[in-house]
Amino acid sequence: MFHLKWKYLDGDGDFRSEEVKRLRDEADIIVTNPPFSMFREFLAWILEADKKFLIIGNVNCITYKEVFPLIKDNKVWLGTGMGRWISGFAVPDDYELYGTEARINEDGKRIISTNNGLWLTNLEHGRRHEPMMLMTMRDNLRYSKRKQVRELGYQHYDNYDAIDVPFTECIPDDYKGVMGVPITFLDKYCPEQFEIIGMAKRGAGDPALRTKIYTKEEYTNYSDLNAGPVIIKNGIPKNTYPRILIKHKI
Ligand SMILES: C[S@@+](CC[C@H](N)C(=O)[O-])C[C@H]1O[C@@H](n2cnc3c(N)ncnc32)[C@H](O)[C@@H]1O
Repeated sequence: MFHLKWKYLDGDGDFRSEEVKRLRDEADIIVTNPPFSMFREFLAWILEADKKFLIIGNVNCITYKEVFPLIKDNKVWLGTGMGRWISGFAVPDDYELYGTEARINEDGKRIISTNNGLWLTNLEHGRRHEPMMLMTMRDNLRYSKRKQVRELGYQHYDNYDAIDVPFTECIPDDYKGVMGVPITFLDKYCPEQFEIIGMAKRGAGDPALRTKIYTKEEYTNYSDLNAGPVIIKNGIPKNTYPRILIKHKI
């Protein structure tokens, strides 16, 4: 039989303390939900010790310059489940349930989940090797469930040589060039199916460049995190959402 042994820490449990660092160094895997405000520092603390980990982050952590390059190089990836499906808190029976963040689980428990979390990990899992089933560009333009894609098609950015794909499920499976996809694409990312080229996100890098709009001639490097993707509409440049720039591998 396994007996759980424990003792109190001497200090306050701060992960930066020597005491907790020693525990980290002994650990095989670190699994936790770190404070979002210290996410970057906590991840660096794990990586400096070269540990396996599974931690909860905010969806936007994907775009951090301390995180995205690791994802791009397939050193770190998402666990399974994102947004509402990541976790839940059981609430009392008299708690009023409303909105899409509330549900009743298979045991009849009332569950509230936040919709902005994800698992970040370097533990291997099978789901990330399952390629997405996609339609050709022609079929998407005709049959996509998304009206925007049927009506507007795939717009080309004015500051990146890439097309905008506003929904992950609308990635055309026969387009050979670079495509800008929503950051939630990473939940479906299969490294055998796609290569990540970079990220187009306004203000992700040097604050001095936050308002810069890149022209086609100016950009040379997709790993430049400073330029949000721009589409010029009726002569007015319009920034789209942050996008991950990807390319088919197969
Ligand atoms: C999001 S909560 C997660 C709590 C718990 N791990 C869980 O999964 O339910 C983040 C926790 O980190 C703790 N925390 C904040 N700063 C910390 C630090 N410097 N070192 C260690 N823990 C810290 C907070 O007190 C809080 O309990």
